[in-house]
Amino acid sequence: MRRSESIAEIKIIPERPGDAESIYAVNASAFATHGEAELVAKLRCDVTPWISLVATVDTDVVGHILFTPVDIQDDERPGTAIALAPVAVLPEHQNRGIGSALVRKGLSNCEATGEHVVFVLGHTNYYPRFGFEPAWPRGLYFNTPEPNPAFFVLELQPAALGGRRGEVRYHRHFYDV
Ligand SMILES: CC(C)(COP(=O)(O)OP(=O)(O)OC[C@H]1O[C@@H](n2cnc3c(N)ncnc32)[C@H](O)[C@@H]1OP(=O)(O)O)[C@@H](O)C(=O)NCCC(=O)NCCS
Repeated sequence: MRRSESIAEIKIIPERPGDAESIYAVNASAFATHGEAELVAKLRCDVTPWISLVATVDTDVVGHILFTPVDIQDDERPGTAIALAPVAVLPEHQNRGIGSALVRKGLSNCEATGEHVVFVLGHTNYYPRFGFEPAWPRGLYFNTPEPNPAFFVLELQPAALGGRRGEVRYHRHFYDV
């Protein structure tokens, strides 16, 4: 693959049958350990809905994004939402807009499937550009009830959260990474 390929040659599409191995390879290359690649492999056996998109050049997978369900453990009005994790782009293809294209297309797929609240735990200077806002000021937290500037929420419809507060509980596999 040539480094000079333009963003126009990159497609963002739902994961295809047979993509699992390439998705593993993308996550294993992009992250420092195989933890995220193993996480995706474990989640794919256990989770619905499964919103999994790949970025392709020709037929090769160069990026991947996954959204899986979470619970909002509001004492009075428990709810469900969806979490973005992980997103990964092969190192040689980074900084060309592929990650952003995956996030934007992924969010639009979430909205199309009726998922209107999205959480993400990640880079503090990356996710605000997509509209994500810190979750803690809304009383929402990951794991421990304390401010975490890396934990974000995005409402894809106004007031979709319905004022829910509390712990956002991911699938148990996330706590093993
Ligand atoms: C994060 C990642 C998916 C972004 O993909 P990408 O295709 O390089 O992203 P884009 O080209 O759309 O955007 C590039 C922007 O991402 C920012 N970015 C990349 N890695 C970053 C990091 N570790 N921390 C903060 N920002 C980061 C770049 O600084 C750049 O910012 P700019 O637009 O202000 O210059 C990709 O760098 C990656 O796979 N990283 C390793 C895995 C990872 O950290 N995943 C996210 C976990 S939260």
